[in-house]
Amino acid sequence: MAHCNENYLNLQGAYLFAEVRKKQEAYKAAHPDANIISLGIGDVTQPLAPVVIEAMKKAVEEMGHVETFRGYGPEQGYLFLREAIAKHDFQDRGCDISPDEIFVSDGAKCDVGNMQEIFAESDIVAITDPVYPVYVDSNVMAGRSGKYVRGAYERFEYLPCYEECGFKANLPSHDPMIIYLCSPNNPTGSALTKKDLTVWVRYAQQTGSVIFFDAAYEAFITEDDVPHSIYEIEGAKEVAIEFRSYSKTAGFTGVRCGYCVVPKELMLETKKGEKISANQLWDRRQCTKFNGCSYIVQRGAEAIYTEEGQKQIQETLDIYRKNAAVILAGAKEAGLPACGGVNSPYVWLTVPEGMTSWDFFDFLLNEAEIICTPGSGFGPCGEGYVRLTSFNTPELTKEAVERMKKALAAR
Ligand code: MLT
Repeated sequence: MAHCNENYLNLQGAYLFAEVRKKQEAYKAAHPDANIISLGIGDVTQPLAPVVIEAMKKAVEEMGHVETFRGYGPEQGYLFLREAIAKHDFQDRGCDISPDEIFVSDGAKCDVGNMQEIFAESDIVAITDPVYPVYVDSNVMAGRSGKYVRGAYERFEYLPCYEECGFKANLPSHDPMIIYLCSPNNPTGSALTKKDLTVWVRYAQQTGSVIFFDAAYEAFITEDDVPHSIYEIEGAKEVAIEFRSYSKTAGFTGVRCGYCVVPKELMLETKKGEKISANQLWDRRQCTKFNGCSYIVQRGAEAIYTEEGQKQIQETLDIYRKNAAVILAGAKEAGLPACGGVNSPYVWLTVPEGMTSWDFFDFLLNEAEIICTPGSGFGPCGEGYVRLTSFNTPELTKEAVERMKKALAAR
């Protein structure tokens, strides 16, 4: 009999969002007339921008004619999209990123989960706590975690993020080689300023570590001193890989498209002490394991970089920004401390005293038929909080907030 990969046995419980979905389904089965409103998983509700639809229709039409049909595309993504990304997302912000440092994929989750494959199994990983669970689980699967002891993996360095520090982590103390940073942060909604990020880049330069910078929520940034890209910090190209997504920026959660940037300056070391380019290794990995994101989808993504496309996606993003403000104001009226929601679609809510994150999840589900995401599912420091997303419709967001206030007042 074949043997299983024992690393998988080291994973704790189910994937967080699968667990939440299971609870939601169980409630629905027991209460068939339930009118549940989800402020749980960060899944969007607003339709794709008209420019995206037009571009994808045109691409579909091209696929129907022998002269314009496309088969396998480049594993790195079509040049038309990589050029648009390099110009609009980076060069226009003063970041010197070229198309051959960009790898288009079917979403940031895959990239952020897979990137660790080009690093040594022995490399120590640092994660902030609370954290997006994909960073943790993908390293557990790869055998980098060590045993799970008293609520933590023994080989990970956890960087606790406390309320009194604005949910920002201090620098590590064990010189990890891989550091995951997410800004604006999922789940807390906090965002690193230029000064904060400079400290991290200098640390990585001094220690030789690599920052995995998850910028999936950069489109929600409203404050001027919060960088949209880590490459806005001088020297970051030597030490950072950046992950971007069209899921929340342009409503692509179901369409699937994202990209990562692996700069040519970023070098890894072999056992013999030789230097090897991370860009080259990732390219090799993608060519072997990935056949590119669909042409139709990439044409859709390209369209958001037009003037009209930018206008249209901002209109949709404004809907979510307003929802976040409604949730924040509602939490305040209900007497619950809350933060995030300013540079982020996520509001991080402190649960009422005496309750755990899951207690409050059950309370909101049973008393208000609202789904949230329990903070403890993001790590030990998430205990005592829940995350609410602003991705529902304005009507349902307002209704959810009213229901939450009513349920809390009746407690
Ligand atoms: C979230 O809710 O944290 C995200 O939607 C999950 C994801 O992007 O994979």
